[in-house]
Amino acid sequence: MRKSVVKVLLTRSLHDFAVKKLQELYDVEIHTGKIPMPIDLLISKIKDKDGLVCYPYDRIDRKIIDTASRLVAISTYSVGYDHIDIKYAQKKGIIVSYTPEVLTRATADLTMALLLAVFRKVVEGDRLIRKGKWKVIFGPNEFLGTDLYGKTLGIFGMGRIGKAVVKRAKGFEMNILYHNRTKLSKKEEKRLGIRYCGLEELFRKSDVISIHAPHTRKTNEIVNLRLFKKMKKTAFLINTARGKIINEKDLIFALQKKMIAGAGLDVFSKEPIDSNHPLSKMENVVIMPHSGSSTAETRSKMAEICVKNLILSLSGKKPIYQVLKSLS
Ligand code: DGY
Repeated sequence: MRKSVVKVLLTRSLHDFAVKKLQELYDVEIHTGKIPMPIDLLISKIKDKDGLVCYPYDRIDRKIIDTASRLVAISTYSVGYDHIDIKYAQKKGIIVSYTPEVLTRATADLTMALLLAVFRKVVEGDRLIRKGKWKVIFGPNEFLGTDLYGKTLGIFGMGRIGKAVVKRAKGFEMNILYHNRTKLSKKEEKRLGIRYCGLEELFRKSDVISIHAPHTRKTNEIVNLRLFKKMKKTAFLINTARGKIINEKDLIFALQKKMIAGAGLDVFSKEPIDSNHPLSKMENVVIMPHSGSSTAETRSKMAEICVKNLILSLSGKKPIYQVLKSLS
């Protein structure tokens, strides 16, 4: 395709090297205003575009797809693609691509950071000192956290990121149970040193639950009061996947009623949250602004892949990572 005829829209800018690569090949329009790009603006700008670079907060639904009569390729700067109507895009012959693998380690690292933070009260300790409340020095009962050693980590969703978390948690000598849509082979379970169980059993037996499942119709708010009631009062919940997998009202209730000990959360039902959000006010909750993949190295690699995916798709080739089916 010649530069003058191929038009690409970015709903937000990317790294300079990535934008430059696109500008060498296409007419590129980059949204620079309010984030997320307002729907009406997206609708008006997508009309004459061949390619789209979007982010996990852009809702690419039927209406957008129907408006985009020239659209050939959507490249999302994310591993998650629950924000795109995949089935409909495929029906319209649009190639959807994404950026898995490169962000696996970074997301698993942040999962461990949250897990360690809640087990050892890292953020609480930092806050305590800064508020001038560290009055009593080292003692048998001062500022007690929880050991990771020998505790059971329950992983919900055993894909790439779940497996990377297993590797890390093994280093801390934790026992690991998991629940997944499909059970892994015996050989793989043995290699990873993990045991499969039902979702309820996972919540009942674990000292900490970590969510690594995709957000789909089936997993929407699957983690709710019914499961919180099964958890140990001493157990924690970690979520670096998608906020909507948890019924957030139920989580707040469970935390307030001390049905569970605490939570480490990188994702929320509606993002961004602010300091008035009930979760922001809880001492036993550690929160992060949706940063699972946010390291300089990883975000740059994601940009490289996102752009390569788009270029390949627009030139009629298979992208490096194509979304082949929706996860309904
Ligand atoms: C993704 O890529 O889907 C992540 O949520 C970003 O951190």
